[in-house]
Amino acid sequence: MNAVDLIVAKRDGGELSDEQINWFIEGVTSGAIPAEQAAALLMAIVWRGMTGRELATWTAAMIDSGQRLDLSSLARPTVDKHSTGGVGDKVSLVLCPLVAACGAAVPQLSGRGLGHTGGTLDKMEAISGWQAALSHDQFLGQLQDVGAVIAAATADLAPADRVLYALRDVTGTVASIPLIASSIMSKKIAEGTAGLVLDVKFGSGAFLPDPAMGEELARTMVGLGHAHGVDTVALLTDMDQPLGLAAGNALEVAESVETLAGGGPADLVDVTLALAQEMVAIAGLDADPAEVLASGRAMDVWRAMVAAQGGDPAAALPAAPVVEHWTAPADGVVNRIDALAVGVAAWRLGAGRARKEDNVSAVAGVLLRRAHGDRVAAGEVIAELHTDDPSLLPAAHEALSSALTIANTAPEPRRLIAARIPYH
Ligand code: URA
Repeated sequence: MNAVDLIVAKRDGGELSDEQINWFIEGVTSGAIPAEQAAALLMAIVWRGMTGRELATWTAAMIDSGQRLDLSSLARPTVDKHSTGGVGDKVSLVLCPLVAACGAAVPQLSGRGLGHTGGTLDKMEAISGWQAALSHDQFLGQLQDVGAVIAAATADLAPADRVLYALRDVTGTVASIPLIASSIMSKKIAEGTAGLVLDVKFGSGAFLPDPAMGEELARTMVGLGHAHGVDTVALLTDMDQPLGLAAGNALEVAESVETLAGGGPADLVDVTLALAQEMVAIAGLDADPAEVLASGRAMDVWRAMVAAQGGDPAAALPAAPVVEHWTAPADGVVNRIDALAVGVAAWRLGAGRARKEDNVSAVAGVLLRRAHGDRVAAGEVIAELHTDDPSLLPAAHEALSSALTIANTAPEPRRLIAARIPYH
C-alpha cells in the first residue's frame, strides 16, 4: 500500500477502504508513515470529512493501536465523563468524587491543558505531593477502594492518537469533527469505562464555539460510544462565559473544594449536578447527587482520592506573590464576561502552556469578583489577576480589554444546558 494513493483518494473526495485505514493507523503508530504524508492525509480529511464507515474503522483502529483496559473485575459500575474543555472548567474535580460517593467507579484518565483551556492534571498538581502517574494495579486498586481516580493516561492508551494529535496541533488540522470525535472517543473507549457522559461546550471559550457544530460533534461521539458498547450521553453546555469564578490551577482547586464543601458558584454546581445525574442514571444507581453533595460524602471521597495519590488534602494551596486588580470602566450591570478573553488572560499570567513541553504556574490565573448579572460601579474590582511574574500583567490586561459587557439593564438568564443528546 502507498500513502500517496490514500492522500490523493481523499483529496479528490473518494472513500478509503478499511484496509487502507488500518494500514495508515498502524503505520502512523509505528512511525513507518512519515509525518508529512500523515499531515497531508489529515488536511484532506479536514476538507473532505469521513463517511460513517470510515469514521467507525478509523476509531476502531485507533483503539486497537494500544490496549483496551478491562475494568470488569470491579464490583462497582464504571462511568466516566469527558469535557471538550473550557475556561474555569473544574467540573471533573467535583464530579469524580461526587459520582464515586454515589456508588460508581469513575476512571478519569486525563490530559494536560494546551492554549487557553486548562487541563485537569495541571489543576490537581497544584495540590502538594499529588502524583498523576499510577501503575495499572494502583489505578484498579484505587478505583475499587475509593471509587474515584484522576490520573495521567498511560502511553499504551490509543497511542495512534498521541502521534496524530501532536501532528494536528502543528498543522492546523485540529478543527475537524471526525478527527476530534475519533481522538476523544478512542481514548475514552480504550480506558475501559462502561458508561460515559460527554460535556460538549459551545461559546467563545469552547473548542467549537458554534452550538450547531458542538451538537454535531456530540452526536458523532455518542454514536461512536454506542458502536463500541459504551453507554454514552452528551450534554451541550454554555462556555460563552467562564464556569465559576476561578480560572487557573490552584484557584480552581480552591473553588472545587468550596463546592465539595456545599458552597461554590451556582453555575458550577448546576452543571456538575446535571452531569452527575446523567452518570448515576447510566450506572444504574439509586442516588441523588444533590443530596450526596450536601451530605459531605463527596468531600470524604475527594480527601481519600487526593491522599491515595500522595497529596495532602489538608495542605494550604500555593498562593500568588503578585495580585493586581482589573476594574470596571463604567457603572452598570455585567451582561457578559467573555470566556475566551479570561482564558487567554489566565494563560498569559502563566496558568497555561503554549507548547506541550512548557511548565505551568500553579498559582497564576484570574479570579472573578463579579459575574453575569452583578451590578458594578466604575472603578470597582471585577477580577483579581494572580501571577508569579509581574511582567506578565500588561499582556493579561490587554487580553481582558474588551472582555466585559456592561449595560444599564439586566441580562437574560444564562441557559447553561442547551441540549441533551441521547443515543437514538
Ligand atoms: N481533545 C482531544 O483529545 N482530541 C481532539 O482532537 C480535540 C480535543
